[in-house]
Amino acid sequence: MKVLVTGGAGFIGANFVFYMLDKHPDYDIVCLDSLTYCGNLKTLDSVMDNPRFKFVKGDVTDRKLVFELFEEEKFNIVVNFAAESHVDRSIEDPGVFLRTNILGTQTLMDAAKEYGVERYHQVGTDEVYGDLPLDRPDLFFTEDMPLTASSPYSASKASADLLAMAYHRTYDMPVTISRCSNNYGPYQFPEKLIPLMIKNALADEQLPVYGTGENVRDWLYVEDHCKAIDMIIHNGKVGEVYNIGGHNERSNLDVVRTILKQVGKPESLITFVGDRKGHDLRYAIDPTKIHNELGWLPETGFDEGIRRTIDWYLDNRQWWEEIISGEYQQYYEKMYSNR
Ligand code: NAD
Ligand code: DAU
Repeated sequence: MKVLVTGGAGFIGANFVFYMLDKHPDYDIVCLDSLTYCGNLKTLDSVMDNPRFKFVKGDVTDRKLVFELFEEEKFNIVVNFAAESHVDRSIEDPGVFLRTNILGTQTLMDAAKEYGVERYHQVGTDEVYGDLPLDRPDLFFTEDMPLTASSPYSASKASADLLAMAYHRTYDMPVTISRCSNNYGPYQFPEKLIPLMIKNALADEQLPVYGTGENVRDWLYVEDHCKAIDMIIHNGKVGEVYNIGGHNERSNLDVVRTILKQVGKPESLITFVGDRKGHDLRYAIDPTKIHNELGWLPETGFDEGIRRTIDWYLDNRQWWEEIISGEYQQYYEKMYSNR
C-alpha cells in the first residue's frame, strides 16, 4: 500500500505519518508539503531516513507537479491534510485559504480520479457546522447538520467538503470525509490556543484570552484523531462523513487555568483582550456514528493529554524556540499588540 499524506510537515499530518509508519509496517508513505510558515521539516526529522518514507516539497495547487507525482507513485490512498488552518489568519487574509483549501482539494481529487486512487480522504473540521449556544449543553454536532461558516477558514473547509462529496456523486469517486474537533498535542504551531498559552506562561508573558474566555472547544488528543482517520480509510463507508471528537469540552478559560496550574504560574498572567471577529461560541461533537460503525473511541482524556502535551513542550524547547525567533515575532506583534 502506498499512501499520500499531504500537509504531513504540519501538526496533525506529521503525527499521522508517525502513526501510520508505526501501525502499518508494510505501508509506504509519501508526504507532499509546500512548507508554508507552519510546515516544518524538523518535525519529520525522525522519519527522514526511514526507507518507507519519502518527502516531496510541493504545492497541492501545482497541477503539473501533483499529476506527475501521482503518475510516478501510483498511490492507493490519499489523505489530504494540506491546508491553511488558522482562523485568525483567515480573518486577516482569506485569499490563500480559498486557494489552498478549495483549489488544492480540487487538484488532488482530479489527480486521484485520473489515476484511479482506491480511497481519497478529506480531513475536515467541525467548524463547518457553525457553532452551538453556550446554554444548550444537550446539543451536539451530528453529520446530518447543514453546513454553515463563521470565518473564511471554515467557509473554505466547507467548500472543500462539498467538492469532495460532489466528486463522489458525479464521478463515483471513493471519497470519505472526517470532521474533527480541536486537536492538541506535540508539534502544534504556537499560534493555536494551547501551545501559545504554554509558551507565554513559560516566559512569564501575558496570556491573551479573547473576549470573556467562555467559548467552549471539544479537545481531542492528536493521536486519537490519527487513529480515527486510519479506521475510516480502511473500514469507513465510501460517500460518508464521520465526526471525530470525544466529549472533552472545556471553556478557553478552563484550558488556560489548567496550563498555568501545571507549569506553576499565577493566574494574574491571564489578560482579557478584544474578541475574535465572528467568534464561534461552542463546538461539541457527537461521535456516535464513528463509534457504532467503526468502534472508535478516544483513548486519551483531557487531563492526561494536556499533561503529556505540556511535558512535550518542556522537553522540546528547541523545536518551538526556533519557530518563535523568526517571522513569528511580526505575526505576534500584528495580532496581539493593539488588541
Ligand atoms: P497545520 O497548519 O499545522 O499544517 C498544515 C500543513 O499543510 C503545513 O505543513 C503546511 O506547510 C501545509 N500546506 C499548507 N498549504 C499547502 C499547500 N498549498 N500545498 C502543500 N502543503 C501545504 O494544520 P493542522 O492543524 O495540522 O491541520 C491539518 C488539517 O486538519 C487541516 O486540513 C485542518 O483544516 C484540519 N483540522 C485541524 C484541526 C486542528 O485542531 N488543528 C481540527 C480539525 C481539522
Ligand atoms: O474545531 C477544529 C478547529 O480547531 C480546526 O479546524 C482549526 O484548524 C483549529 O485551528 C481550531 O480552531 P479554533 O479557532 O477553535 O482554534 P484556536 O486554537 O485558534 O482557538 C481556540 C479557542 O481559543 C478559540 O475560542 C479562540 C481562543 N483563543 C485563541 C488564541 C490563539 C484565545 O482566547 N486566545 C488566543 O490567543
